[in-house]
Amino acid sequence: WPKKKSIHSVVMEQLPGEVIAILKDLGKLADRLHYKAYAVGGFVRDLLLRRPNLDIDIVVEGDGIEFAKEFAASHGIRARCHKKFNTAVLIFSDKLKVDVASARFEYYQYPAALPIVEFSSLKMDLYRRDFTINTLALTLNPDDFGQLIDFFGGQRDLKDKIIRVLHNLSFVEDPTRIMRAIRFEQRFNFKIGKQTATLMKNAVRMGLIQKLGGRRFFHEIDLILMEENPVPAVRRMDEYGVLGLLASGMRFDTRMEELFNRIRNMISWYRLSFLDEPLEGSWVYFLGLLSGLHRNDLEKVWNRLEMTENQRERMLWTYGQVESLLRGFFQLPEHRPSDIYRTLQPFKPEELLFMMARTEREEVRKAISHYFHRYRRVRTELKGKDLKAMGVPPGPIYRIILDELIDAHLNGEVKSLQDEWGYLKVHHPEIFENAEKNMSSGMSF
Ligand code: CTP
Repeated sequence: WPKKKSIHSVVMEQLPGEVIAILKDLGKLADRLHYKAYAVGGFVRDLLLRRPNLDIDIVVEGDGIEFAKEFAASHGIRARCHKKFNTAVLIFSDKLKVDVASARFEYYQYPAALPIVEFSSLKMDLYRRDFTINTLALTLNPDDFGQLIDFFGGQRDLKDKIIRVLHNLSFVEDPTRIMRAIRFEQRFNFKIGKQTATLMKNAVRMGLIQKLGGRRFFHEIDLILMEENPVPAVRRMDEYGVLGLLASGMRFDTRMEELFNRIRNMISWYRLSFLDEPLEGSWVYFLGLLSGLHRNDLEKVWNRLEMTENQRERMLWTYGQVESLLRGFFQLPEHRPSDIYRTLQPFKPEELLFMMARTEREEVRKAISHYFHRYRRVRTELKGKDLKAMGVPPGPIYRIILDELIDAHLNGEVKSLQDEWGYLKVHHPEIFENAEKNMSSGMSF
C-alpha cells in the first residue's frame, strides 16, 4: 500500500455539506458490512483540482449491489442495480447520483500486463483505468475518512499537469482513450506525456480507431464538442490524425478554426441570453465540422459514425436551407418581422446558431437575434377556444386565422385583445356573421 495522506481539509472545504454527509454515511455502512469503500476516479481528481464535480463514483471491496440496496433502504432513496456488471446507482436527486462498483478479485480477468500477486481488489480496479490522474481513491470508512490513496503516481501527475497511461496496452484495450486523453489535456490545460503521446500515435497508425464501433466513436467526438472550449481539442484530433480517419478531406485549417471560434461566440451569447433554455452546443460544432464536405465524404462520415436516418436528413436539410436562405431570403433589401418569423420558425436554435456563425453578414445575425429575442415567443390573446365559442366550424381555418393574428402582432398591426377583435372584424367578417346567426338560432356561447 502506498503511503496515505489525509485530504480531509480539502474534502471539508470543497464539497457541499450534503455531499460530505452522504460520503460519511457510505463509509459507515461499509464498516457495518465489513467492507471498505472508496470514492474514486474523476470525482477525486476534480476534488484535488478544486473543480466542482458531483458525479460521484465509489468502489466497495465487497458486494456493491447488496451495499447499494442497504444504503437506499436506510435512506429512503432509489437504487438502480445492474446485476450483470455488479454495479448500482444511488439516486439522490436529478443532480446528485452515486455510482457504486464492486471490486472483488473474482470479477477480474487478468490483463496480460498485470502481475497479480500483490494486488488488492481496489488496486486491481484502479489499474484497469485510463490515466494516472483518474486512479486516485479516497477512503470513506470512518477511521480513515479523507485519506488519499495513490497507487500509480496520480498526485504527482496532477501536480506536473501530465496525462499518462498506466501501461503500454492501454490504448489497445480501449481506443476511446485516445480521444479521452485529448479531451482531458485541453480541459485541464495539461500535457500528454511523451511516452503516452507515442503510444497514441502508434495506436492511430495501427488502425485501432477503425476498430471502434461507430456509436462509441461518435460519442467520444460529441464529448469533445461538449467541452467548454472544444477548439484546441479538435485541433489536437487533427494533429493526431483522428479527424482524417473520418473523411480524408477533413482538416482543422484556419478557416475551420475561425468558424469554430464564431460558433463558440454564438453559443455563449445564446446561453447568456436564454439562461434556462436547453441547447445542444455540440450539434452546432458538429454541423460546422462537416459543413465543408462534399456529399460522398459526408455519407462516409455518416456511415462511419452510424448516424441515424433522422440525423442525416436533418443535417442535409439544414445545410441546404442555410445556403438557400443566405443566397435568397437574406439578400432581400428588407424583411417584415413576420417574414423572418415564418422563415426561421422551422429551424432549431442549434441550426440558427450555425447559420449565424456561417455568415459574415452582421444584418443576418441581427435578424436571427431579433427572432430569438422578440419574435419566436409571440402569442395571440385570442385562442382556438374563443373561435370555437364564436361558432367557427372546425378545420384549417383556425390555424390560418391564428397565424394571421401572430403576423399582425409581429408587424405591430395589433397589440391587444381588442386590436385582435378589430383585426378579425376587418379581415374575417364572416366569423361575426356566423356568431350572430348562431345567437339568433338560440345557440349559446
Ligand atoms: N475510464 C477508463 N477508460 C475509459 C472510460 C473511463 O478507464 N475509456 C475510467 C476513468 O478512470 C474514469 C472513470 O472510468 O475516471 C469514469 O469515467 P467517466 O465518467 O467517463 O470519467 P470522468 O473522469 O469522470 O470524466 P468526465 O469528467 O468527463 O465525466
